[in-house]
Formats: sequence, C-alpha cells, structure tokens
Amino acid sequence: MNPLFRNLCLLGALGASLLAPVAHASKANPVIGLSLDTLKEERWQSDRDTFVAAAEKLGAKVIVQSANSDDTRQVRDVESLITRGVDVLVIVPHNGAAMSRAVKSANQAKIPVIAYDRLILNSKIDLYLTFDNVSVGEAQANWALAHLPKDRPLRIVRIYGAPTDNNAKLFKQGQDNVLDPLIKAGKVQVLFEDWALDWKPENAKKIMNAAITKSGREIDAVLAANDGTAGGAIQTLLEEGLAGKVLVTGQDADLAACQRILRGTQAMTVYKPVKKLAELGAATAVNMARGEFPKPVATLDNGSMQVPSIFEKVISVDKTNIMETVVADGFHPAERVK
Ligand code: BGC
Repeated sequence: MNPLFRNLCLLGALGASLLAPVAHASKANPVIGLSLDTLKEERWQSDRDTFVAAAEKLGAKVIVQSANSDDTRQVRDVESLITRGVDVLVIVPHNGAAMSRAVKSANQAKIPVIAYDRLILNSKIDLYLTFDNVSVGEAQANWALAHLPKDRPLRIVRIYGAPTDNNAKLFKQGQDNVLDPLIKAGKVQVLFEDWALDWKPENAKKIMNAAITKSGREIDAVLAANDGTAGGAIQTLLEEGLAGKVLVTGQDADLAACQRILRGTQAMTVYKPVKKLAELGAATAVNMARGEFPKPVATLDNGSMQVPSIFEKVISVDKTNIMETVVADGFHPAERVK
C-alpha cells in the first residue's frame, strides 16, 4: 500500500476512535469524563494521576481532556464528552461563568456534574468538591503577620490569581478577612495589588516588577496566591537582590516551592492534600454513575442554586513542618525536597 495512503488511513482510524461514542457503559464499568483547565501546573498532574488510578481501581474508565486555559476549547471538550455518552462529568473550569453553557447540555443529557476544586457558576451542578478556599487566604495572611515585625506598619504587595477563577476571589476574601481590620487601622499598607491572568508566573513577575517600580524596594511581604505566582514574583526578587529578604507566601506545595522554602527564598505554602480530594472525587463520580449521590452537609451559592459541597482542610507549611506534612504524606519524596 502507498505509505502516504496508509498513514492517512491510520490517522483516520485514530481520529474516529478518539471521537467515537464510548460503548454503553455498564454500571459496573462506568465511564467518567474529566475535563481540566490545564495540566501545566504540577498540582493538576497529581489530581489527574490520582483520580484516574482511583477510578480505574473501582472499575471505571476515565477520559481526560485538558483545555490549555482556553474557554472555547474547554466547552468543546465537555460537549464532546457528553456526545460520547460519559456517565458522569468531573470539571475543573478555567472560567466558572463560561462553563455554565456546557453544563446546561449535560443537564439536558441527564449526566451528573461534579465541579472539582473550582466552582461552576450560574448552573445546576450535583456537587462541588473542593478545599476550604477561604481558609487558604486566611492561612497565607495569618502566617505572614505572625512572622513580620509588630512594632511598625507593614508594607505588602498582593498578587491575586486568575480573575476568571472563582477560587482566586475566595483566596482574596480569606486574606481580606485577616487584613482589612489592620489596613483600616493603618497597621498594614498595601503598596500594590493586581490579578495574575491565567495564574501565569510570568504575569506575576510583571506585577512584582510594577510594584517595585511604583513603590520601591522597601517591601515586607508579597502575598502571592499560589506557588506558580510566588515563583514569578521570586524571580523578580532574585534579579533585584531581594530574594530571602521579602517574605513570600504560596499555595499547593509544588516541588519547586518546597525547595525554595528550604533554601529560604519562599517563606510558606499552603498544602492541600490533593490525593485525598482526587480519591474522593473518583469514588464519588463512580458512585454517582451507579446512582448513589452523597449527602454533603455544606452548601455554597453559585448564583443559581445552593450547591451541595464538600470542603477539605488545608495546612500551612514552612521549613519547620515540611517533613511531617508534605513529605510524611508521600506528596514529595524527602530526597527531592532537600
Ligand atoms: C487552585 C489552586 C491552583 C490555581 C492555579 C486554583 O483554582 O485551587 O490550587 O494553584 O487554581 O491552577
């Protein structure tokens, strides 16, 4: 056979198999669609790996899609999972508002939807499974205040997450809960604040540059919303000879962040036991496919309904407890953190 023709046939077969509807999934072997915003950040790779392994152990198959921070692509991903006839959808939305369109299609197809880690707004979803996101922001602000001088006003920079991610607002809300009274009392001065589009480290780096250009080098702390943005800010601090002199917060216990904590360029991170969330997500999705829905005690308003929700706890991590938290939990091996 002509090799070009053969390759075209192979490509055609591959394309057809990628798009083909899944064979009718029995309840013993349901099919779960997992739609992720991105796999660029380390944590989402952990979420995916644990989720897929846990679901497969329970007899399910998982189809994973990742949208590379693109709303149109993610809505299309979800719609293609619906067309393929998945039993349950588990979605980490890039944009909690934009995703409501695809959820409407899922509702029409009677496919249960779990919003995983990030809330989907203005739509009918069956469960929101996440961490206590407000407490992440509180942990960052509380840790910073406990480790900064108390005898003079503090000068801080605030780098928030992606404005399209509802979690970014909750992290800020948690920080506000702690900081607002101190800001009002003149004990904390916010020199500069901005949102890092798509959570990109390079955007956080730009914000840090702008903060120094505007307000100078006398900065006590940078409240970075996660480890990716912390890494971007620390890059600027390194270039300015300020790394290790300015306290920087984070979130996710990414390997690079844990290493920075031990080297002293990042002060803390907030560890979210992703393995626990992903295992719970997988078990809940499989149960839903089998017709069993959990009865969570909490709810959260998403603009159209009180969404049944489960909030897992988070842990502040610094160099004093990194071994007994992140490492002891098996999140990173000790030899890689050091
Ligand atoms: C997650 C964080 C993550 C961030 C960027 C948030 O929604 O809760 O853990 O660092 O997205 O991906």
